[in-house]
Amino acid sequence: MKRKPLLQAVSVALGFILTTCSVQAMETEKDSKITTKLEEEALALKPNIDNGRQIYEMCAVCHSPHGWGTPDGRYPQIAGQHYNVIIKQLGDIRAGNRDNPTMYPFTLPNVLGGAQDLADVAAYIEQLPMSPFNDVGPGFDLSYGKELYKEHCEECHGKEGEGDNKEFYPRIQGQHFTYLLRQMRWIQIEKRRNADKTMVKQIHRFSGRDIHSVIDYTSRLRPPADKVAKPDWRNRDFPDSFVSVPRTFIDGPWWDSTWGPHPRWVPMQPIPMIE
Ligand code: HEC
Ligand code: HEC
Repeated sequence: MKRKPLLQAVSVALGFILTTCSVQAMETEKDSKITTKLEEEALALKPNIDNGRQIYEMCAVCHSPHGWGTPDGRYPQIAGQHYNVIIKQLGDIRAGNRDNPTMYPFTLPNVLGGAQDLADVAAYIEQLPMSPFNDVGPGFDLSYGKELYKEHCEECHGKEGEGDNKEFYPRIQGQHFTYLLRQMRWIQIEKRRNADKTMVKQIHRFSGRDIHSVIDYTSRLRPPADKVAKPDWRNRDFPDSFVSVPRTFIDGPWWDSTWGPHPRWVPMQPIPMIE
């Protein structure tokens, strides 16, 4: 008889813990999905790639006609990113859930437009072939990086960093090392406010070495061959005379309009992966 109240207390406590856990699980699920009405509207529309191409002219000033980003990591590779992920990032940047002061004005309604325009430009970017070269880390701690990746990242971002359109998990393969590093730090210190809460917890205790090595490993994950541009590919939707802030390439060598030719910009291929 005496044990009964204790049992009751235990079961009430258990029930409480279980409910809290499931509420947390629900919040986590919600957090990893869309956050704004605009994103929801855009996701329900049928995109028009041709209109997307026209809007992309404005984006290409920074992201270049190829959408390949810059190896110094200032601009990310956006070509080939998942449609849903692009829509979410654009909506989040416009809503102020993700800080991006340089790009913010270009996401405003009077510049980028409404839900249809978001969908259109996302569809255009998604179908752009990805760069055959991206900047990678120094490569001295890769087996440790691989271990961390398998344990902490693979579940969401996939074995090869391919992400998942439906789940809004970004494609992180083929991305520039320094950009990845910056995003990891910003996600860890919660400066990137739209980050996935489960991911934030996952990397909460990561040391500098952990972050550096897992990102070095990630930067060497290759996109599937059918998503990668042939080395001599040019985006013929744009004239060769199109001027963008970061110059993608002029007849081969990589260079930057500010710094000129840069040794690290020389295409690094094949990217060695230490098993
Ligand atoms: C003035 C320069 C500039 C313009 C114009 C610009 N962007 Fe960006 N964009 C950036 C920078 C810089 C970043 C990376 C910010 C960071 O480090 O978080 C970025 C990030 C992004 C991302 C997120 C990538 C990721 O991996 O999460 C997307 C998507 C994107 N831009 C799409 C666009 C689209 C679409 C347009 C045109 C409507 C556009 N951008 C116009 C500078 C610009
Ligand atoms: C629970 C799922 C989950 C786990 C585990 C996870 N991530 Fe993420 N990650 C996400 C989601 C969702 C986003 C996009 C959040 C948003 O919308 O801004 C993201 C964003 C990122 C970004 C920014 C991508 C970009 O284009 O800006 C990087 C880099 C990244 N994750 C790397 C990692 C690494 C490395 C690990 C392992 C140490 C990891 N993630 C673990 C879900 C996860």
